[in-house]
Amino acid sequence: MPKITDKINILKKEKNAVILAHCYQNIEIDEVADFVGDSLYLSRKAAETDADIIVFAGVYFMAETAKILSPEKKVLLPRLEAGCLMADMINTEELRKFKAQYPGVPVVCYVNSTAGIKAESDICCTSANAVKVVNSLPGKRVLFVPDRGLGAYVASQLPDKQIISYYGYCPTHMRIMPGDIRALKSQCPEAEVLVHPECHMEVIKLADFIGSTSGIMKRAGQSSAKTFIIATEKGVVERLQRDLPEKEFILVSEKAICENMKWNTLEDILISLEKERHEIFVEPELRRMAYRAIERMLSV
Ligand code: 13P
Ligand code: SF4
Repeated sequence: MPKITDKINILKKEKNAVILAHCYQNIEIDEVADFVGDSLYLSRKAAETDADIIVFAGVYFMAETAKILSPEKKVLLPRLEAGCLMADMINTEELRKFKAQYPGVPVVCYVNSTAGIKAESDICCTSANAVKVVNSLPGKRVLFVPDRGLGAYVASQLPDKQIISYYGYCPTHMRIMPGDIRALKSQCPEAEVLVHPECHMEVIKLADFIGSTSGIMKRAGQSSAKTFIIATEKGVVERLQRDLPEKEFILVSEKAICENMKWNTLEDILISLEKERHEIFVEPELRRMAYRAIERMLSV
């Protein structure tokens, strides 16, 4: 009986497919993934690949972004249930109302958003490039949607800008509390604290280093520290421990799990490739508008 990973790898070759996996996915998915990384890295890979099929092991907005970047390719999301609670916190109508309160102010939208929100925005960003993107805009005022956590962090880095954030948030990162870090720090005072900017500002203030998924992983590799407290999603900690076994990585809280990211399994990926389901579509005009915002981001 061939192993499930072998079956997936054979099908990938037969169908000229690639599998993109976010670092928050169940870790066994890395065994079949062509690229594993954060949102920015995977967006770039989705734009570059010459595969016929992209299987996105991630959440809905990520597969949708891949489709926007590569409309001629078939983009599959193994489990349709894999949504993003933050992305669902704003819809097009709400964004239009928000914009109407601040006429002429440019809108930066976190890539963790629907195609409709991207289409209504001037430029996208991810957590890896948010400061750079906001700083690239002329003028003082910027509307930032939907993540007030990342918006507050960007504001703290760019005192000359006035960032007006929408009230959305990532429930996974907002479940991390300052007390979680303080408790771990009292047990392990020498540990370096690495924090994702989707967290509360009070958590960010306790960080030795603040960074996106890729930023945290790079820092862990380069730092001379031996022990780290990681304030982001559990999948990042699992991968760090696998890749850097000589160091110790402590997950800040067992609550730091994105349930939506955990829907996809190897079985789902196999079925998705076999049956070519669930295909993600984006209506052409919407796609054209959303593409502009993502392309601007990729060129910053
Ligand atoms: P990054 O991959 O940009 O760090 O984003 C984190 C996240 O919440 C993805 O859903
Ligand atoms: Fe959305 Fe947060 Fe989950 Fe990322 S971690 S997919 S932002 S709910």
